[in-house]
Amino acid sequence: MFDGTFWDELYRSRSAVWSGNPNIHLVNEVSDLTPGSALDVGCGEGADAIWLAERGWRVTAADISSVALERARAVVVSVDVARRIDWLHTDLVAGAPPSASYDLVSAQFMHLPRAPRELLFRRLAASVKPQGTLLIVGHHPSDLQTTVPRPPKPELFYTAADVAALLEPNNWDIIVEVSRERSTTDPAGRIVTIHDAVLRARRR
Ligand SMILES: C[S@@+](CC[C@H](N)C(=O)[O-])C[C@H]1O[C@@H](n2cnc3c(N)ncnc32)[C@H](O)[C@@H]1O
Repeated sequence: MFDGTFWDELYRSRSAVWSGNPNIHLVNEVSDLTPGSALDVGCGEGADAIWLAERGWRVTAADISSVALERARAVVVSVDVARRIDWLHTDLVAGAPPSASYDLVSAQFMHLPRAPRELLFRRLAASVKPQGTLLIVGHHPSDLQTTVPRPPKPELFYTAADVAALLEPNNWDIIVEVSRERSTTDPAGRIVTIHDAVLRARRR
């Protein structure tokens, strides 16, 4: 359903698909962490990876879309920041990231059908180092009751509790498990309140 061709076509359809700013929940949850190695899952046009690298993180920025990655690589950054980012063209559902390898694994708005999503999130959890952080953010299912455009497929959406349920309780401390309100504008120009599922967990 959402393979590399789908995403390449979406990125080709517009000169910029996302805002170019880092995701607000990444900024809120990660600003207090000591920089180390990070995996940005589905990095898109690269704003989160660049923000992390500007703060000293060494980032593997992975995406299934070569169009998105070309765009991300083309963003002008300092030599130091560029050196800290590896742009990686890969399908993270087809192949798992290396286990226990990252101090931070961040997945922002990865929406897949339930089975591949749960497989991916379990693999992402396995790729976090001991004492490292897993941050998963997604559109909450309640957004389907609003006027913001969302694919009319409930199975693509999840709560923070859905994500927490995938983690082995003996191995993780749940730091944040919430539905966070955010204001946005719908296609008719109305201000709408939507919700993001935010799960932040620390591996023991
Ligand atoms: C909704 S976008 C979010 C982009 C970015 N994280 C952000 O918040 O701006 C989802 C991204 O995940 C990528 N993606 C989807 N399936 C993927 C997969 N199986 N492996 C790697 N990346 C994938 C898409 O190409 C797209 O860039």
